[in-house]
Amino acid sequence: MTEHTELDSFVRAFREAAPYIHYLRDKTIVLAISSHVIAAETFQALAQDISLLGSLGIKVVVVHGVRKYINDLMQESHATLPSYQGRRITNEKTLVKVKQACGEVRFDLEAALSVGLSNSPQYGTRNRLVSGNFISAKPLGVIDGVDMGYTGTIRRIDFTLIKQLLQHNCMVLVSPIGHSLSGKTFSLSMDEVAAEVAIGLRAEKLVFINEEAGIIDADGALVRNLSANEAAAFFEAVPQQKAIKRLLPSTLRALQQGVKRVQYIGAHTEGSLFSELFTKNGSGTSFAQHAFVHIRQAISDDIPDIMRMIQPLEDQGVLVHRSHDYLENHIDEFSILEHDEQVYGCVALKRFQGSNMGELACLVVSPDAQEGGYGELLLEHVQKQARSAKLKTLFCLSTHTGEWFSERGFQDATLAQIPLERQRQYHQDGRGSHVYLLPL
Ligand code: ACO
Repeated sequence: MTEHTELDSFVRAFREAAPYIHYLRDKTIVLAISSHVIAAETFQALAQDISLLGSLGIKVVVVHGVRKYINDLMQESHATLPSYQGRRITNEKTLVKVKQACGEVRFDLEAALSVGLSNSPQYGTRNRLVSGNFISAKPLGVIDGVDMGYTGTIRRIDFTLIKQLLQHNCMVLVSPIGHSLSGKTFSLSMDEVAAEVAIGLRAEKLVFINEEAGIIDADGALVRNLSANEAAAFFEAVPQQKAIKRLLPSTLRALQQGVKRVQYIGAHTEGSLFSELFTKNGSGTSFAQHAFVHIRQAISDDIPDIMRMIQPLEDQGVLVHRSHDYLENHIDEFSILEHDEQVYGCVALKRFQGSNMGELACLVVSPDAQEGGYGELLLEHVQKQARSAKLKTLFCLSTHTGEWFSERGFQDATLAQIPLERQRQYHQDGRGSHVYLLPL
């Protein structure tokens, strides 16, 4: 019994992950890892998961932070670390510590990411991890009369070189440090570097891996999804979580410049990276430029997804059979609900010549996404479509789901109330469905 349950949950998890793995293959993700995370004991497990991403065909760039290492070095020498407007002021002495800290983090990371995939048949396979002088920098200069010294900003990033390395299946490691053409070294902010690297590589995802598990709302609950506008408003309203708030400008810039998703995850929960990348709900907070769930017109490419959702229901007699050819010929009637670029639902609106009635048909939400309000969203969408087509009534035919429609305002009706053309089809299919009407 237990074995079965374990097997079932493995199969379910694997099926959930498979489309995400397929989707991310050959795509680039940038992981921006806080230095506190790298210094923690739990990092070894995370490093193993990062290594595995490469073996799934995902191109990985790691940008590391350095703050904790610098703070520790400064504390050891009882030195203070002045800052202005949230940026460290880097004088000559601090710069030495910055270089020292960067070297130390880099070696720690290289060691952790060089460990072979110990639980896999590829045991002993070493990741090819490459770091280098990818970034040219310039000084931040004097701000409001404050000389920021060797604190710098990005001038140029050698994306050609990074892309070549990724193409050769190397994992690329980028440090928050850059050099000017005159040979000076500048300390950079990790989040700025990570965002610019993600933008320049047109990365699919930028994942900030922090100590905190993501954004927490006023009630202490994890916020799973935020659009860019919601994120800006949220941080106004909930001023706590200063460490994470620091990431907001880079997050919004990355989204505006075309990075599809920015994600914040906590490193200390085992498997949080996989959960964020390969499950629908993820483990942290995910940001997108626009809303996460959207409904759009279906296209022929959606037919495999539609068939995947409707076939089990056809077998159970919940839905009438629709062939691939039927779907190909009627695809314009269908709408698709996507969450984070994965298809989770569909619905069709059928029109009848000379009638001001429309039929809502083939309403389906994937079993793993039911009871989250998607059915209701699809219904609202069809109502909107019907109204803008000047239809006066929506009807549907159902064998098993009548109650769901009744609870949403549909009324029991008779066959005589629907268009003649549909009455004829009804007699042909012999399913004996109940008829429901919704005045618009
Ligand atoms: N009868 C009555 N209530 C139902 C049914 C049902 N068959 N199925 C789900 N519900 C209830 C849930 O219990 C839940 O109730 P609660 O809010 O009180 O907890 C509520 O509906 C969930 O609502 P949503 O989250 O908006 O709906 P969801 O995203 O789960 O989608 C849908 C509802 C489309 C019916 C989904 O359950 C599904 O795909 N079912 C299988 C396919 C199906 O029956 N489709 C309709 C075919 S008929 C036609 O298309 C005309």
